[in-house]
Amino acid sequence: MINVAILGFGVVGCGVAEVLKINSESIAHRAGQEIKVKWILDIRDFPDSPYADILTKNADDVFNDDSVDIVVETIGGVTFAADFTRRALMSGKSVVTSNKELVATQGPELLQLAKENGVSYLFEASVGGGIPIIRPLNQCLAANEINGITGILNGTTNYILTHMKKDGKSFEEALKEAQKNGYAEQNPTADVEGHDTCRKLAILSSIAYNEYVNPENIYTEGITKITTDDMKYAEAIDSVIKLIAISRKVNGKIFTRVSPAIISKEHPLANVEDVFNAIVVKGNAIGDAMFYGRGAGKMPTASAVVADIIDIAKHPDFGTNNVWVRNNDNNILAIGDSM
Ligand code: HSE
Repeated sequence: MINVAILGFGVVGCGVAEVLKINSESIAHRAGQEIKVKWILDIRDFPDSPYADILTKNADDVFNDDSVDIVVETIGGVTFAADFTRRALMSGKSVVTSNKELVATQGPELLQLAKENGVSYLFEASVGGGIPIIRPLNQCLAANEINGITGILNGTTNYILTHMKKDGKSFEEALKEAQKNGYAEQNPTADVEGHDTCRKLAILSSIAYNEYVNPENIYTEGITKITTDDMKYAEAIDSVIKLIAISRKVNGKIFTRVSPAIISKEHPLANVEDVFNAIVVKGNAIGDAMFYGRGAGKMPTASAVVADIIDIAKHPDFGTNNVWVRNNDNNILAIGDSM
């Protein structure tokens, strides 16, 4: 039996508990053992929750419990989430997370800490919601030199752009809907200003190029200045506006950029709508490979978190060889700089 503690009972944390419950039989079969939620940590009260008997506000309940094997960090942000992640890894508990901000900014140190303690730090859910992309890049495409990533990596902004274009909705109306559907960050500025996309591009690029890419070095522009008139101009030239994340490795240098772009309707990314994300990976053996699916939301994101839990249940040291080294930030340039 594997015991799991969920830290943060928001949209994704609730989804993780739900997926573990509704698919318990097939998950136990795949993991080779039962997976049980032992604790749920949150500072809020959930009086009518079916999990009332395992809800706690005291982190010591989790960290002093030697029977907890895996900690799921779905708190978000880089304060409590970082402290709890370090505490878990140092006490020999693997950590699974959907927290792209923490992975993008402190990934090198946290992966090293996991390795030193013989446990895993896994984050399939941090990019692309339910789309398998971290594992394919790390494993299935491991034979390739990866030299490019292009994608739509944020469900909220893609939802907003889709509905501004299709239904003539205002930016604010479409954002409200995305928030209602549980796609947006607690502070949606991270979505609409492109920071969430930037962090996800940093994670994918770090894996793809075997070199830590610091999100601070990625040129980033969001969608707040896009108007419905811009949408009409794009339509007039058979194109659409999308928030595009792009990185390339050319002659050993990494070029990155996050910004709105006008793309032809014939491009495969033009037809990625609503909460869907898509990622095109360029490898020197495979050519272009495209990954597509729901990029945000409770159950798709929980699907990726639970897959990480299952992998650790099968192989506790699953992620221990996965380290990112901080080296020369000067190697990361904006697309448009001299190539
Ligand atoms: N706010 C994020 C998005 C959630 O809209 O894509 C998933 O990472």
